[in-house]
Amino acid sequence: MASPESSVHRPDPPVCLVLGAGALGRLWAAYLPDNSRGFIPRKRDQTGHCRYALVTPTGEIRPVNVPWRQPASPDIPDCLLVTTKAQDTLTALTDVLQHLLPQTPIVLFQNGMGSQQVVAAQWPDRPVLAAVTTEGANRPDADTLIHAGLGETWVGGLNPAGCKAQSRVVTALASSGLIVHSEPDIAQRLLRKLAVNAGINPFTAIIDCPNGDILKQPFYLEHIDELCREIAALMHHKGWQVAASELRQQIEQVARTTAKNTSSMRSDIINGRVTEIRFINGWIAQECQRHHLPSRVNHMLTTWVQDLSAIA
Ligand SMILES: NC(=O)c1ccc[n+]([C@@H]2O[C@H](COP(=O)([O-])OP(=O)(O)OC[C@H]3O[C@@H](n4cnc5c(N)ncnc54)[C@H](OP(=O)(O)O)[C@@H]3O)[C@@H](O)[C@H]2O)c1
Repeated sequence: MASPESSVHRPDPPVCLVLGAGALGRLWAAYLPDNSRGFIPRKRDQTGHCRYALVTPTGEIRPVNVPWRQPASPDIPDCLLVTTKAQDTLTALTDVLQHLLPQTPIVLFQNGMGSQQVVAAQWPDRPVLAAVTTEGANRPDADTLIHAGLGETWVGGLNPAGCKAQSRVVTALASSGLIVHSEPDIAQRLLRKLAVNAGINPFTAIIDCPNGDILKQPFYLEHIDELCREIAALMHHKGWQVAASELRQQIEQVARTTAKNTSSMRSDIINGRVTEIRFINGWIAQECQRHHLPSRVNHMLTTWVQDLSAIA
């Protein structure tokens, strides 16, 4: 894997700008070659560097310096990585895209569903892609980025222009040294991840426990089968034939392998931040209703998490 501060010379490495200097954005910026990356600042007058310490999965600590780059700067990026939360993505992009060439690929890293489709509909002629990643990153404080676990990333186009740009984008992301795959059916991969998130995140937030602890909780055991039946019926509508029992197995396998982790939803509730529930169980409930399918449990979990956010 490339060192984040690698001095290895690469001829014309693709330039990737990152919009959203949070946990996931800092992870990608840390691993991308140091002369081909930058953060787009929220404030248009921000200059200099964003400095932080990367703690690698093996516990090594490395300093990282990523320049703040204005989107209108002369360095035209080869691609834009969007690592804002789902609810912030449209606003963040609307502000920035007016400065970027129409052929710049936009790579959306948001969990859940809904925000990607809004972006693809808003800019139908721009190359829009989605990335599904199992990399894990968190920020225990402003200056530290923990790369919690090595994962893999799948990238695929969400519209024809995005599909055309796919191999170029995979090459750009792979210059990080992280594992990146080209995904011909990114929509299904997004749905698969959505199903797992929908079966873990709200339970961890409501019960207030690490991922693995949900498995023995009466609240989880009472609702998980009905939840999986609702999701399986919707997935059937979306062209993915999956049994409710298979979904439950996948959810529980991920809960076991990430047993000690705190989900982003639980962490958002603890820290008084808005969660992405609207794009996870909220999106499933909304789509179920649109197709006249049962959505009781997804709706109940969505309302419950939104109520927790309101009182946090
Ligand atoms: N972290 C992971 O391991 C991981 C893994 C897979 C997928 N994801 C997905 O990736 C997305 C980002 O997650 P995260 O954990 O990195 O969240 P995060 O730490 O909250 O980072 C989001 C960043 O976006 C910034 N932002 C918000 N609005 C902006 C704007 N208008 N212009 C520029 N920046 C803006 C935020 O700035 P402020 O700090 O100033 O609010 C924050 O730094 C989520 O959809 C998440 O589900 C994360």
